[in-house]
Amino acid sequence: MQNPSLRGATLVSLSTLVVVLVAVGASGQSPGGNPAARKVKNPVPATAASVSAGKVAFDTYCALCHGAEGKGNGPLAQPNAKPQDLTDAAWVYGSTDGEIFDLIGRGLVGPPVKMPAFKGTLSEKDLWNVVNFLRSLGPKSAAR
Ligand code: HEC
Repeated sequence: MQNPSLRGATLVSLSTLVVVLVAVGASGQSPGGNPAARKVKNPVPATAASVSAGKVAFDTYCALCHGAEGKGNGPLAQPNAKPQDLTDAAWVYGSTDGEIFDLIGRGLVGPPVKMPAFKGTLSEKDLWNVVNFLRSLGPKSAAR
């Protein structure tokens, strides 16, 4: 399972997460997708390098809640704010790369906070790398 250095990284990102959760203000993201974000095209080609950079960011910042495999069963998954399974074909907040990018950047900061905003924590490029990584997990038929 986890080796000691991974556990150290998890602790660091846990404390980062607490800070982020406390620091975020209120803003909205609603189920059903986001027409403006839908128009944004992914500028980062889904190369092997991009997907593996996305995996590094995912392991550090997302697996805590979404699970190591993205199934929504990470150790911080809360019953009242259940992280989605990111490997299925269903995208509650929109299925295009642009919408997924936008959602990860802005988070679901409520109130209540369900997911921190990652814009700033992750560079734009890394946000797209994460999108490319998520695409590598999920059904290929999802809309881009
Ligand atoms: C504090 C826990 C937490 C962390 C950390 C977190 N998420 Fe989430 N995420 C959630 C929850 C909870 C939801 C679902 C909220 C809801 O719909 O009620 C969610 C939803 C999502 C969705 C929407 C899925 C859909 O079906 O539309 C995406 C995409 C997503 N997260 C990606 C990420 C990525 C990528 C990261 C890391 C950069 C991340 N999340 C980190 C808790 C988290």
